[in-house]
Amino acid sequence: RKKIAVMTSGGDSQGMAAVIRAVVRTGINMNCDVFCVQQGYNGLIEGGEYIRKTEWADVRGYLPRGGTPIRTARCKAFYERPGRLTAAKNMVINGIDAIIICGGDGSLTGADRFRAEWPSLLEELVSKGELTAQQIVPHKHLNIVGLVGSIDNDLSGTDATIGCYSALDRISTVISWVQDTADSHSRAFVIEVMGRHCGWLALMAGVASGADFIFIPEQPREDNWKEEMCSIVKKHRDEGKHQTIVVMAEGAQDRYGKKITTDMVKDLLSDPHGLDLDTRVTIVGHPQRGGKPVAHDRMLATLQGVEAVHAVLEATPETETCFIAINENKIVRKPLMAAVQATKEVAEVIKAQDFEKAVKLRDTEFAD
Ligand code: F6P
Repeated sequence: RKKIAVMTSGGDSQGMAAVIRAVVRTGINMNCDVFCVQQGYNGLIEGGEYIRKTEWADVRGYLPRGGTPIRTARCKAFYERPGRLTAAKNMVINGIDAIIICGGDGSLTGADRFRAEWPSLLEELVSKGELTAQQIVPHKHLNIVGLVGSIDNDLSGTDATIGCYSALDRISTVISWVQDTADSHSRAFVIEVMGRHCGWLALMAGVASGADFIFIPEQPREDNWKEEMCSIVKKHRDEGKHQTIVVMAEGAQDRYGKKITTDMVKDLLSDPHGLDLDTRVTIVGHPQRGGKPVAHDRMLATLQGVEAVHAVLEATPETETCFIAINENKIVRKPLMAAVQATKEVAEVIKAQDFEKAVKLRDTEFAD
């Protein structure tokens, strides 16, 4: 019987619980034993109670749940080889040689590194007498499949990450509440949403809410951004609009890479010598990552979780590490490291102010 581990890692996102349910139940259906690893890589390192065989009924009710019931963590120890060595030992002890991991690009990169090092980790464990040569025979290859769980929708090569539509729903709801009170008081609101390196949430929330102005890291503002924003807001007010909404990704910046803060925008909108608007700041914060997943994320998590188990069972030692993407409404397998690489390159070219290249890279199709 194949033994598969499933875990969530990095920042949580809505739909992670649905991923666990889909992997556990598909695995059981396909005659595998499925183990849930608690607290991401921490659990692999801790071993024991942290690696639990999970049954069909254990994941009942997971489909609509927010957060990740098997918990998550950003694990520093796994960045170091001794941490990965202990993790490898715990996996062999439990007879596991496949991991389905749901997380962001950092967590998925860690998984690929683990896979690349796997043979040398096992050799070291044998040479130190922590495992016997016989114990490692059935575990020569580690098989990793990634699922992208992140509210930011920030991985190249997939149209949507698990959680991004739920976060967008939370933000759009908050903005609509803010709009009610803004309209009553004829106020302006500067609303900050998550997205350190990726402006998808801010851009889509702005579009979905009819925002007056949007700041995203991918489109750093030119020197004249203050005049531009004020003239647009003034035009909307002159047309009879009673409320003003400016949406900012937390990574908003100017063309020199300097952060544009919510207070800078607030001061500008409320300047008595300028627009003189009664202005407030709302930082949406972590409610964006909480609450029940919307139907899209439940569906995505389920279909991708099923596909991940199939990918594990069909993998050969030669198979490149893949992640499960959605492209033009199709669930597909894609090479993991090409996507991580493209995502990193986007961040680098944005830093280097080459925005045309960034847009091209985001749209790049890499071979399956
Ligand atoms: O999940 C990614 C993200 O939402 C980023 O947009 C944000 O900067 C970060 O998480 C904050 O997460 P934490 O508070 O867990 O460090």
